[in-house]
Amino acid sequence: LDADGAQPVTLTARAGSHSFVPGTKTPTLGYELDYLGPTLRVRRGRSARIDVVNRTGDEISAHWHGAFVPGKMDGGPQGAFAPGKTSSARFDVHQPAATLWYHSHVHGKTGTQVYHGLAGLLLVEDPAAPDGLPADYGVNDLPLVVQDRSFDSSGRLVYNTSGMTLMSGFLGNTICVNGAVRPVADVPRGLVRLRILNGSNARFYDFGFDDGRQFHQVASDSGLLPAPVARTHLALAPAERAEIVVDFSGDNAPVRLVSADFARSGMMGGGMMGGGSGAPATYDIATFVPGGAAGTGPTALPVSLPAPPFDLGAPVRTRDIRLDMHAGTMMGSMLRRLTGSNGGVMGINGRSYDMGRIDAELKLGETELWRVAAPMMTHPFHVHGCSFQVVSRGGQAVDPATEGHKDVVVVDARGVEILVRVDQKADRATPFMMHCHILEHEDAGMMAQFTVA
Ligand code: C2O
Ligand code: CU
Ligand code: CU
Repeated sequence: LDADGAQPVTLTARAGSHSFVPGTKTPTLGYELDYLGPTLRVRRGRSARIDVVNRTGDEISAHWHGAFVPGKMDGGPQGAFAPGKTSSARFDVHQPAATLWYHSHVHGKTGTQVYHGLAGLLLVEDPAAPDGLPADYGVNDLPLVVQDRSFDSSGRLVYNTSGMTLMSGFLGNTICVNGAVRPVADVPRGLVRLRILNGSNARFYDFGFDDGRQFHQVASDSGLLPAPVARTHLALAPAERAEIVVDFSGDNAPVRLVSADFARSGMMGGGMMGGGSGAPATYDIATFVPGGAAGTGPTALPVSLPAPPFDLGAPVRTRDIRLDMHAGTMMGSMLRRLTGSNGGVMGINGRSYDMGRIDAELKLGETELWRVAAPMMTHPFHVHGCSFQVVSRGGQAVDPATEGHKDVVVVDARGVEILVRVDQKADRATPFMMHCHILEHEDAGMMAQFTVA
């Protein structure tokens, strides 16, 4: 759906019911659809106009994850609006081409609302910078929203955040792509671009193909890489995106996209991923059936891509950010949680999220070095209102050409350094968020907010 035309696009959020598995139906939420929302497209140099109507029974929001929009258009916790109300997003699109997304962001309810379907893709295109990649949406340019879900014996979605689930984040036992279990897609015998969003609440993936074939990554969260990067597997944490190009030109048999469990480091890592969730070590994501002609797409990958420059410059200050699980009081916190008192188990720099408190004040357009650490376990850290550059991981320099511009970065005990510059204003009434994108951690308070002036 083009969301940058003369007339606003209307997304009516509502309750629905959806068949993940043929023959069963379960209550869900969606923006305009029964489950998830339509892929929105906006073009650089134009203005997005999106009216979100709330016909669900609860307050919701629509956060434009990765979009460079001012705080008042960001749709974060302060942007929540009641049933019956409409929230109008109007913003100029001035960022490079990228695969972004949108989702509800109501504090304490993000996990359940996204889980039940309040999410969709937001694609930014740049008409002035053609990338030479496959771009025939639905033919050789396919979106893959990958999410793990759990169902009970009658096929109804199951969601809970009790006990250990809170610590690991909710892990489903069934992988869905665009709301379908193990979908099969017909693709041309040629180059195919896959835009992959890890839209899961908490699961990490390590994607690859069943035959171990090489593919090329061409974009990460916030835009193109300077040149295609050859890979045989690709790790994506919750909320991360990647665009890859796969060559199906020589294929006569179906090719399966699979995932291995991401090896999460730290003491609470790996064990939690496989254990308890019932998921096997490797699982099917989707199957591609190459057929017919190569179509009208390009037959060779470009050697270079019109990637955004790395131009953040030298930082003017340093900020330390620690993602806390309140070590030492963990059992106590879990018990409080189990007995129903939401005492804020998680936090940032020792404090659990508070909508009424501003945690940091940034200066518009000033570059900062953020040293982010997560002593207890691995967390995907996200910042609103910008993209950032990963400088180092565990003290080792990172190559920006293979990492690209990011808005989510995986952080563990070894720490990560990122260069952050926010060029969008955000006042005290509608600040930007920084948070863990394991939605159960975010809902439990592993989030902070900042102004930009
Ligand atoms: Cu994807 Cu604060 O969000
Ligand atoms: Cu966001
Ligand atoms: Cu986390």
